[in-house]
Amino acid sequence: MSRCVNREFSLAYRVPTLLARLPNSVRRCDTAQVRGLRVALANLKPGTGKTTSAVWLAHVFAQAGNSVLLVDADPSGSALEWSDLAYMDPRLTPSEAAFPFRIVALPSRELHRRVPEIAHADDVVIIDTPQLEDHPGIARSALRYADEILIPCAPSPIEINRTTPVRDEIDEVGAVRDRPARSAVLLNRCIARAHSTNDARQALERLGYDVLGTAVPRLEVYAQSFGMPIRQPGRDVWHYVARELVERCLPLHAARI
Ligand SMILES: Nc1ncnc2c1ncn2[C@@H]1O[C@H](COP(=O)(O)OP(=O)(O)O)[C@@H](O)[C@H]1O
Ligand SMILES: [Mg+2]
Repeated sequence: MSRCVNREFSLAYRVPTLLARLPNSVRRCDTAQVRGLRVALANLKPGTGKTTSAVWLAHVFAQAGNSVLLVDADPSGSALEWSDLAYMDPRLTPSEAAFPFRIVALPSRELHRRVPEIAHADDVVIIDTPQLEDHPGIARSALRYADEILIPCAPSPIEINRTTPVRDEIDEVGAVRDRPARSAVLLNRCIARAHSTNDARQALERLGYDVLGTAVPRLEVYAQSFGMPIRQPGRDVWHYVARELVERCLPLHAARI
């Protein structure tokens, strides 16, 4: 049995228990006592799964009843383009095809100053950050805003090597933040039953990274999802990712999931 499957079972039981232990005022994220969950998907390079992760995660958080804001901080605007294309799906009514959350384009170096005002009523903010190598100013601003930085990374030596500049950047940005951010690697595009996922996990952990227990498989449902409305198949894995994020953030943050 893979670690991913074990994790699914353990989290399914542990997270509701953890949430149940919190007082209501902290458990509900629409109360003033709870700050929203601020997640940024970041990496040095394009093509690692930042946009795909951001869009699927936004859907599962929204499905769980959270008010979600997806910030498309990439000048290429692919998350926004995805939502536009999905909205035009001729097989669905506009209300069925619309993404169930707000999405704003904000490819700005001032993102960390501007998002709080835009997102003040939202439970969960997810930032699709552009690749650090081409847009360092915007990416730094997103790293400055987010409390949880997720680094999507394929289980391959080359992608593992390329995580180092992201970690260095997170460390540098830490100096100007009010409080430290957490960061974790999200293993993405993992081949089922291949050794590479566990090998990569061990290599990343040896390098000192937190690695989420859930590994996102390489699946056609994700590869073909750009520009399409997000349907039910394929959501489960993102639920587990979302639950892990909530678990990592407790008790400072809480979100329904
Ligand atoms: N888990 C996955 N399984 C299969 N294909 C994936 C997966 N995650 C991402 N992809 C594909 O990889 C490509 C790059 O993903 P994308 O999210 O656009 O990366 P980025 O935003 O980092 O540039 C896209 O074609 C996307 O469909
Ligand atoms: Mg992208």
